[in-house]
Amino acid sequence: MAQITKRIGLSLGADLCWPICYEEILKRLDLELDIGGDRVRFEVERLTIEPFDLRQPVRYDVVLDRITHWYHTSREWIKKAILMDDLYVLNNPWSLQSMEKATSYCAMMRLGFPVPDTWMVPPKEYEPSPDLQPTLERYAKLFDITEIGDQLGYPSYMKPYDGGAWVGVDRINDAKALKAAYEKSGTRVMHLQKAVDPHDLFVRCIGVGPQVRIVNYDPSAPLHERYQVDFNFLTADEARTLRDMTLTINTFFGWDFNSCEALRQDGLFQPIDFANACPDSQVTSLHFHFPWLVKAQLRWSLFCAATDRKMRRTVDWDPYYEIADRDELDYEAKLAAYGAIANQRLESERFEEFCDHHLSQLDEVALEFFASDTALEAVRTKVESLYPAHEIDSFTDHFWGLIQFWRKTEME
Ligand SMILES: Nc1ncnc2c1ncn2[C@@H]1O[C@H](COP(=O)(O)OP(=O)(O)OP(=O)(O)O)[C@@H](O)[C@H]1O
Ligand SMILES: [Mg+2]
Repeated sequence: MAQITKRIGLSLGADLCWPICYEEILKRLDLELDIGGDRVRFEVERLTIEPFDLRQPVRYDVVLDRITHWYHTSREWIKKAILMDDLYVLNNPWSLQSMEKATSYCAMMRLGFPVPDTWMVPPKEYEPSPDLQPTLERYAKLFDITEIGDQLGYPSYMKPYDGGAWVGVDRINDAKALKAAYEKSGTRVMHLQKAVDPHDLFVRCIGVGPQVRIVNYDPSAPLHERYQVDFNFLTADEARTLRDMTLTINTFFGWDFNSCEALRQDGLFQPIDFANACPDSQVTSLHFHFPWLVKAQLRWSLFCAATDRKMRRTVDWDPYYEIADRDELDYEAKLAAYGAIANQRLESERFEEFCDHHLSQLDEVALEFFASDTALEAVRTKVESLYPAHEIDSFTDHFWGLIQFWRKTEME
């Protein structure tokens, strides 16, 4: 019987609260698992940024990454570690780098998801480059953006093709507003998308491995109140549909962690943003839902580390396309079939068994942890980084209160 230590690395930037909770709960769990006769223990470390030899070995079995979508040195270190050292990373850095919102719309349209009609338009302005002038003179066709707007109908949304954090997003009610929005979009490549309007429900689905939490979301509320504390707002069928949609896209692109937005109109969930592969993980937005995320990250990363889960290095889209091309299947049947591929790729059953068998004490440990001074300090630290001095106490109390409410609902 060998004694093995699995090392989990946290590749972090501005994140403050969830890593503290993740590390502390792991410490309190003090796991020593019997995996195939070996005694497996776990350590967690934060990755540092420093020069590296491409041939140097890697200390980690699993890395949870939150920075490589914009920090290139870490991205290249992670890519090297996947290519050369069999590292397992949440999320696949190539997929993050190249699969923007536009790519996810195309994938979903091809798979039959009811994505609202969407156009892409060339940018209004350009950074100078040597070949720009001849290229545009030869090939750029003049167009009238209001013709596209009229064709799509109003209201619609103009928003960046990659995007995130609501930057550069405009709701467009008429041709005049469309012209003005395009005018100010500058060098960004934009989408114009038909609004899902009216809709009677807006959901965000957070996926971590095979775990999905569906949250009622109000984008019109202030940042700290967008994730709603709401229960029983979906039928079992709707929950299954959203779970299948989320896990289909996540496994299609190789994202272990993503959050997906869909709007319900006449009973149909239309996806508008399924490419957030570095989702908001802060207690200041997730509050009541924050402990779920920390626990989900722990479960999935421990499972990946303990079972030596292999990183899928290449995307493999053919099985999804085979289902998409089966004319005898309706959307519902296709979605169930995509969901089955997702569950297989994510080893959903094996994961459930692993959690039941090895992590049965996690609920209790987390419940206790989220009443501790360390948890309170993690919340306060995050609040201090975002709020003005005179609001720190009240917002710390606010988020802490919602976490205590979560504890209460868990204990019922
Ligand atoms: N087609 C649409 N129909 C209705 N509302 C939309 C549509 N597209 C965008 N919106 C609204 O605009 C908001 C921002 O759009 P989107 O999510 O695509 O951009 P984002 O930059 O990723 O924003 P975030 O980071 O908040 O998710 C959405 O939360 C939603 O309220
Ligand atoms: Mg969004």
